[in-house]
Amino acid sequence: MNDMRGIFLTGITGTLGREMLRELIQTPENLLFLLVRAGNRSAPGVRLEKMMSELGFSAAQRQRVVLLEGDITQAGFGLKAEDLQRLLAEAHVFYHAAALTQLNGSREDCERINVGGTLHALEIAKKLVREGRLARFFYFSTAYAAGSRQKYCSFEDRLPEHPVFANFYESSKYASETNVRKAFAAGLPGAIFRPSIVVGHSETGEVSQFNVIYPFMRLFAHGMLRILPTRLENSFNIVPIDFVVKAALAISENPACLGKAFHLVTQTPPTIETLIRVKKEDYPGMADPLVVAPADFRREDLEPAEQFIYDMLQPYLGYLNDDLTFDTANTAAFLAGTGVEFPKTDADFLRTLLRYAVGQGYLVIPSSK
Ligand SMILES: NC(=O)c1ccc[n+]([C@@H]2O[C@H](COP(=O)([O-])OP(=O)(O)OC[C@H]3O[C@@H](n4cnc5c(N)ncnc54)[C@H](OP(=O)(O)O)[C@@H]3O)[C@@H](O)[C@H]2O)c1
Repeated sequence: MNDMRGIFLTGITGTLGREMLRELIQTPENLLFLLVRAGNRSAPGVRLEKMMSELGFSAAQRQRVVLLEGDITQAGFGLKAEDLQRLLAEAHVFYHAAALTQLNGSREDCERINVGGTLHALEIAKKLVREGRLARFFYFSTAYAAGSRQKYCSFEDRLPEHPVFANFYESSKYASETNVRKAFAAGLPGAIFRPSIVVGHSETGEVSQFNVIYPFMRLFAHGMLRILPTRLENSFNIVPIDFVVKAALAISENPACLGKAFHLVTQTPPTIETLIRVKKEDYPGMADPLVVAPADFRREDLEPAEQFIYDMLQPYLGYLNDDLTFDTANTAAFLAGTGVEFPKTDADFLRTLLRYAVGQGYLVIPSSK
């Protein structure tokens, strides 16, 4: 397998990693080294086998998959010596996507998994460059590493000096990205991808896990939270998962990407008004949130049960108030001519997302169309 291209991937059991895997296996020259940790009840091999079955891998495709058991919170990911040897001999590209993505994650967990895990990834990448064949390290950051709690236009090739964070997820991704940038400045070849809020496929709405923004939508759809502290004209930056994967892979192929960061976001985020309109038109039976300007919103006006839910949702609310906006100059320049275009995230796309979530029984709507 000497003419194969070895690709080391973390986070493949997650929303994004799974779709990266689905795409990367299509190229016959790709040999995939996949980091998987033991689950609560199942061994890494069982987890990987289940995924490959779900993704419909052929026997030939399975030949191009190498399971690496490990945990990013451990030095060297806790890899076996022979697995590290294989990476040294065969890995050319490394995508680090594993992270704790819960917006209400504790400071300790976010730092241990996101900051610590990325430091371990950088150490491995440096070793693979120094002693092996690694040519590029790609890090999945987030557009919200810039901190979503202040009015700010975020540029791709820098982070704000004085960010204001909504949660420990954001602050840990800021710290991680800072460390990745330092490693690039010290000579590690690589690039950074910053998606906004990743949602389902642009054409089907399909997504493997309803996380990040979906639980939030569910609380409103099911009438468990009735008041939304935002403005109808505010927008929220969502991005279909297929665009994130295609854009990241297209940009990774361009050697000029090294040392740069790329916002993988929509350039035309939908407004709250559009979301509510689509919901009313397509699902009149779905509960309607009452939109209240953040300055007029009073937590005390909520029922005690709603206050509890509202407190849980606090880390999410900034994403509905578009204080943070994103420059896309690098991404636009690098996607030009690749055939990958910025996504349309209009009313029709919102319809597609809602239809999929309803079809899967995630959103249960009385008298849906
Ligand atoms: N989803 C979004 O909206 C979004 C937006 C912007 C940026 N991003 C970034 O994109 C990347 C992928 O996000 P995602 O949404 O795919 O995340 P996700 O669905 O939450 O999946 C996280 C992945 O990381 C793995 N992981 C977590 N802790 C680990 C550990 N200690 N050792 C090994 N693996 C570990 C998980 O494995 P287990 O299955 O074992 O838990 C899983 O495969 C992250 O860096 C995230 O910050 C995501």
